[in-house]
Amino acid sequence: MAEGRHTLITTGSYEAEPDEVGRVLLLYSGGLDTSVMLKWIQDEYEAEVVALTVDLGQPGEDFEVVRGKAMNLGAVDCHVIDAREEFAHDYVLPAIKANALYGGGYPLFTALGRPLIAKLAVEKAHESGCDTIAHGCTGKGNDQVRIESTVLAMDPEMKIIAPVRGWQMGREEEIAYAREHGIPVKGGTESPPYSIDDNIWGRSSEGGPIEDLGEPPRDDVFNLVTDPREAPDEPEDVAVEFERGCPVAINGERLGLVELLERAGEIGARHGVGIVDHIEDRIVGLKVRDLYEVPAAELILTAHKELEKLVGTIHQNTFKPQLDAHWAYLVYAGLWYEPLLGDLNAFMDAVNEQVTGSVTVRLFKGSARPVARESPNALYDQALAGFGESGGLFSQQASPGFIELWSLQSRMAYGIRNRKR
Ligand code: ARG
Repeated sequence: MAEGRHTLITTGSYEAEPDEVGRVLLLYSGGLDTSVMLKWIQDEYEAEVVALTVDLGQPGEDFEVVRGKAMNLGAVDCHVIDAREEFAHDYVLPAIKANALYGGGYPLFTALGRPLIAKLAVEKAHESGCDTIAHGCTGKGNDQVRIESTVLAMDPEMKIIAPVRGWQMGREEEIAYAREHGIPVKGGTESPPYSIDDNIWGRSSEGGPIEDLGEPPRDDVFNLVTDPREAPDEPEDVAVEFERGCPVAINGERLGLVELLERAGEIGARHGVGIVDHIEDRIVGLKVRDLYEVPAAELILTAHKELEKLVGTIHQNTFKPQLDAHWAYLVYAGLWYEPLLGDLNAFMDAVNEQVTGSVTVRLFKGSARPVARESPNALYDQALAGFGESGGLFSQQASPGFIELWSLQSRMAYGIRNRKR
């Protein structure tokens, strides 16, 4: 290690000591932190750096530019992997089947992406002879937990460095370091002070003015979803069709999953749908505020939940949300490889065998409301449910007997608790 700009205190057995580091696989986004890191690792560890950038459908990213930047900063190689198909099918789809919302509002797009990114990092590290994986997460967030736990599950021998946790540079110092080392700083220092992460399933903003809980979000936060006040004055009805829990068509047009999620995002965003102002319990103990833009998730999850309700029994419908919440918790907490998640997935798949049909959602100035549904598996019979006399399967004369037995224990308990002494 050259002149010690940072104090290296290792507490995890998997954290690389400088003399163990020969070649580093860096998870590279092209942003300031990981660009500074690309240079810094070469200097501090005297190691070679292979960069890896993963395309999960971040809107508006030019991956050739990112690649070029990495090469200019001295990477021996830079790989860009288009992982959108794998992300959609193996990560977002299970989340749809589990109606996944952490804390009731966060559809987990970042949490779903990290284990995939970490898995690809381990694969690329092996391919390119790297002994260490580096990432740009801070020591305060969930992402470090997700990436490191996945890396270590896949390769217990892999070493990890997370320079941001230890280098004790603030943003100003990082910018100074960047200037000093010829690292281009995007948009000067004037860019909005938010920490952004996005992919095909949503976008988050954290930090800066968002940290003031007493203040409503500023307009400059939102970048994906139209301000509901400016959304069209006419509602739009969107039919989402599912086969065994997987969305397969929008408004009658069959689409591959990646395209379908993109389309759902566009339509939702146009109508101001999917803005979430969320207070969140991070797994490392902090409570933070996130501003989410999740138009695709809002449309697809609304439709999926509605269809599931239509084909599920009362018992499935009261039980599954508890497992859904636990699924979201495990994924949020970075335990993608935990066996319990596999067990829960088996349950989700079993329930979703019946989730075939179509739900029409009405989008209007920020709201998404189911207005029509149809399914060959609906546990619904219009003749039985109607107010008219139905006979046959349902006998109204049977109801008093049912009520007498159904309420027996509860009535007895009520009587005991209210008896006059
Ligand atoms: N709060 C969300 C989560 O923990 C979003 C995190 C976004 N990550 C980021 N590096 N800005 O999953």
